[in-house]
Order: sequence, then C-alpha cells, then structure tokens
Amino acid sequence: MLVLGIETSCDDTATAVVRGGRVVLSSVSTDQDRFHAKYGGIVPEIASRRHVALLSAAVEDALDRAGTTFEQIDAIAVTRGPGLIGSLVVGVAAAKALAFALRKPLYGVNHLHGHIFASFLGEGEVPRYPFLALLVSGGHSQLVEVESPTAMRVIGRTRDDAAGEAYDKTARLLGLGFPGGPQLDALAQRGDPRAIAFPRNRVPAGSLDMSFSGLKTSVRYFLESSAGKRARIEDVAASFQAAVIDVLIARVGAAFALRPYASVVLSGGVAANSGLQRALREWSQGNGVDAFIPPPKYCTDNAAMIAAAAFYQGDALLADPIALSADPNLPFALRPSTSSG
Ligand code: KG4
Ligand code: ZN
Repeated sequence: MLVLGIETSCDDTATAVVRGGRVVLSSVSTDQDRFHAKYGGIVPEIASRRHVALLSAAVEDALDRAGTTFEQIDAIAVTRGPGLIGSLVVGVAAAKALAFALRKPLYGVNHLHGHIFASFLGEGEVPRYPFLALLVSGGHSQLVEVESPTAMRVIGRTRDDAAGEAYDKTARLLGLGFPGGPQLDALAQRGDPRAIAFPRNRVPAGSLDMSFSGLKTSVRYFLESSAGKRARIEDVAASFQAAVIDVLIARVGAAFALRPYASVVLSGGVAANSGLQRALREWSQGNGVDAFIPPPKYCTDNAAMIAAAAFYQGDALLADPIALSADPNLPFALRPSTSSG
C-alpha cells in the first residue's frame, strides 16, 4: 500500500510517500524558519500563507522523488490536528481535493499519533506492544501508553511548558536564534552538565506529570546573578539540558515501575536531542528494555510519520473527503475522523 502523507500542522510544509507503513520512498520538508526567525517564534498567519505557496510543489516533489504518479498512490493521509488552525486547513483542504478528484481513500491523522509511528519507519525491528512512548515536542510533553495501534492513552503530561518550549525559551534567554532547541543542544555538548545545579522537578506522588517552567525561571535568575554573568554559556546550556533529561528519564523509570512495557519509544522534535537519546539508551540498556529512537529527520515534524500512522491505524481514520475537518484541539483518543471539531 502506497500512502501520500501531508503534514502542515505548524511551520513545516511536509509531504512523503511511504510503502507499507515503513518504507519511505520520499520525504520532503520545507521549514520556514527564515520567515519566522526575526519574530523569535512562529507567526501563525505567515505559516499558513507559506503552506499555501509551497504545498502543491511539495506534493509533486514527493511523488517525483518516489518515482510514483498520482494514479499509483493507494491513499492520502493528512494531519487534521492538533496544531495551528490556519496551517492545518491548508493541508486538509489539499488532501480532501486530491482524494476527491483521484477517488482515493482519505485518512485524517492525529499529529501526535504520527510522532509515535515515526518509530516504525525504516528497516529493522519495530516496537512491541504494549509500549511506552515519550513524546516531547515544541507543543507537547507526554507519556503515552500504547496498547495497540488504535488504543493509546496519555498517562503523564507537562503541567506547564512543553520540553521543546522550555528549550526554545531558554535559548532565547541565552541570546540564541530560533528555533533554539538544536542550537542549545550543540552548545550543551561543549559544556559541563554539572557546572550549575538547576532544579529537577520530582515525580509527584501518584502522578507521572512533569513541569518545566520553574527550570526556565531558575535559568533566568541565574543569568541575572553575578555568578551567571561569569558563567560560560556552554555550561549553562549543558546544565539546563541535564536537568530536562533527568526529569524526562525519571518519568520513564516511574512509568516502567508501574508496568513493565515491552519497549520504550522516543518521539517528537526534542527526541532529536543527542543528550536525551544517549540518556534513554543508557537507561534502557541498564533496565533490559528495547528503545526505539527515530533518526532526527523523522523526530521533528515530517509527513512520512503521518503516512505511517494512517497505515497502522487504518480504517479507524478513514474520512469522508467532503466532511473531514481540521481540528486544532483534536483530542488524543481516536474518534471518527469526520466528527466536527
Ligand atoms: O515535533 P516538532 O518538530 O514540532 C512540534 O510539533 O512542536 O518539535 C519542535 C521542537 C522545538 O521546540 C525545537 O526547539 C525542538 O523540538 N528541538 C530540539 C532539538 N531539535 C528540535 N530540542 C532539543 N534538542 C534538539 N536537538
Ligand atoms: Zn510535532
């Protein structure tokens, strides 16, 4: 089965062709960073206009690189939410028009489920059910219990900032450009993670929730202090990163203490973080658990993961090309794709 995936939930205009939920024949992504950088964050109106300008060519590009034609595609998968409404509607409208005109099945995918299925892309082993997914992106930080492709539930979440948001805000405090996560990660690799003891948010009793806003605030206070003015930026970055990683790994450990999952999966933009990847690999080796971490290009937003989710979740996502609606607040639990929202 060949699926054309379309992802426009935020600021990446992404398209892909994936065979059988795993073989990526093409994956094209045009980030818009240079249009948003001078504002220090994503401007929704600019993002949706850029999607309009880029999407048609991105679809053709994905087909060309995959060596396929519209006729050879078996189905179309599109992110219907959650995300920025103006951005989502561009992808959803394009997918509906293609599915209608080509008379192909249309799948409406939850962006967060897409991140989870990124770990099924490529060759080699796939995660075994039930598994635990640590989903860390610019908009979300969640622990997800995945029972089967269509049965998953959030068992822990951030109470304030998402991990990627904490990266981006801290990067801004350090005077780095946007998006800050990758730049902070690069700096952290040259710093001492023990230089500054930033606070670790402990696992609350009876909960797997996490919090990152206190950490960001303590970085700010530190930078304003006299010690902060003398500190090396690399050490601040490494110490911040160490605190984020400790908080995340502690949640994974606490979740496995409640239930011995078969595998652990890392996903979302922050999963591209080299320190987090290393820490999760170490934790999983120490605990005899199989860890699945997609390559960086499939950790951040991409359309191959959307095509993969459609393949694995199948009929549960089947949508009417006339009625499918974008839903910026799409709930995590699977619901019929045509329900209004
Ligand atoms: O999943 P994603 O591409 O978009 C959302 O759905 O949010 O995640 C983007 C987030 C941004 O906050 C970005 O700074 C962060 O992922 N990020 C990283 C790294 N690469 C991207 N954070 C830490 N280290 C990285 N290497
Ligand atoms: Zn994402």
